[in-house]
Amino acid sequence: MNDPNGLVFFQEEFHLFYQYNPEGIKWGHMSWGHAVSRDLVHWEQLALALPEANEVMVFPGSAVVDWQDTSGFGRGKEPPLVAIYTGHYTRRPRQNQNLAYSNDRERTWTKFSGNPVLDIGEADFRDPKVFWHEPTRRWVMAVSWPAHRNVRFYGSPNLRDWSHLSDFGPPGATEGIWECPDIFPVPMEGGAGALKWILIVNVNAGASAGGSDCQYFVGQFDGRRFAPDRSAARPGRPLWADWARDFYAAVFWNDVPASDGRRLWIGWMSNWDYAPDVPTSPWRNAMSLPQSLAVRETPDGWRLLQRPVRELESLRGQPVSIALKGLGSQAELARLDGVVAGPCELSLDAEPGSDSVFDLTLQTGAVEATTLRVDMPNRELTLDRTQSGNVGFHPKFAGTAAAPLRLIGGHLKLNLFVDTSSIEIFANNDEAVLSSLLLPSAGSRRLSLRGLCGSVKSTQLEGWKLASIWGPRNDGP
Ligand code: FRU
Repeated sequence: MNDPNGLVFFQEEFHLFYQYNPEGIKWGHMSWGHAVSRDLVHWEQLALALPEANEVMVFPGSAVVDWQDTSGFGRGKEPPLVAIYTGHYTRRPRQNQNLAYSNDRERTWTKFSGNPVLDIGEADFRDPKVFWHEPTRRWVMAVSWPAHRNVRFYGSPNLRDWSHLSDFGPPGATEGIWECPDIFPVPMEGGAGALKWILIVNVNAGASAGGSDCQYFVGQFDGRRFAPDRSAARPGRPLWADWARDFYAAVFWNDVPASDGRRLWIGWMSNWDYAPDVPTSPWRNAMSLPQSLAVRETPDGWRLLQRPVRELESLRGQPVSIALKGLGSQAELARLDGVVAGPCELSLDAEPGSDSVFDLTLQTGAVEATTLRVDMPNRELTLDRTQSGNVGFHPKFAGTAAAPLRLIGGHLKLNLFVDTSSIEIFANNDEAVLSSLLLPSAGSRRLSLRGLCGSVKSTQLEGWKLASIWGPRNDGP
């Protein structure tokens, strides 16, 4: 599987469609797989939603609840659900935008007989994200024009007829092609103040840590045109939603109820540099943790805040807390051995000096280790997976990734989720994320903290074992 598609909330269910090959574990025969969840944590797999047919693959797109039945696909009282997806032709160079609808809570789908609804005669024109823009009372589509490094905007009264509104591009990262755009207003941290519009552009090649990744722009959208804030879009300094290698094609959920009020998204946890070769079986590739979003004004400009959704706390076992002087000793850290041995969540709050450099390392066995280096003089966090386990399956897998490091009120705060074959690190109070696949040998993990330079005043660590999302609840450390 790859990109998340058609993210929409309807009648108490979060829908997660995704690019899926029903015939094998390499990319091909692209269709929409389908899963639903009531809490964003536990998922139920449903039947294939939109299969490839007649030499047209079902590429990414979005889904909306058409509350006023503008499309005319409704039956009875329920609003129809409408998916807008890219048709990718396998026998000729063409991509265009198509509709499918469902009248039974997205359990079964009908492809619209009038497809395609938008075709500009291009070989690469894909990944439509559609949402209702209330101030202009119409549907808006953001769709990528990959080779031009452009996001095109279209408007429609009924999802069937589309007219061109504007184009955005190409500032930011332009080495790779632009794919999977999304645009959404996001609240300021704490809920006060005006909303900021975040334009998401996924870039395939040339990302901060190499390969594909997700960049964003902060600005305003008037229903026709996206205007980036000057302070947020510095030439040559793209803003990355993730600074490590495994977060791509992230998109927002449509129709999350106002009573919930969150902006929620999820990304694909892999990288096109090596995704077809990740040595897992019988499955290949997975989603990130779902994240809740806000914006914060920092001394460097506006930043997107990404926080793992609070529903994940339901997986926590009993907390184990340790307060350390400096970085403490290995004997003190051993209290976390039971927690870090399997899937776990860790939170670290440290007060480093301006000259401190230290390593937080997850060791598996004698030689394998994944290390996060906190480097205050260079204001950098680096994640090194060169020794993390199986790194030899692809020459581009091993390596390090670097994210900016910022103390807030003198504190460095990190929140880490370690699963069997991944780590997701939320740093700087959610201003920077590092998501990375890891393929360690089976074996018990241990945590170490090692100072390399300068001193750290104090460190607080808290850890929780995490229960499996497929099993019963965790009830002990
Ligand atoms: C993004 C992508 C897009 C394409 C889709 C096909 O991850 O490569 O180029 O739309 O996946 O599955």
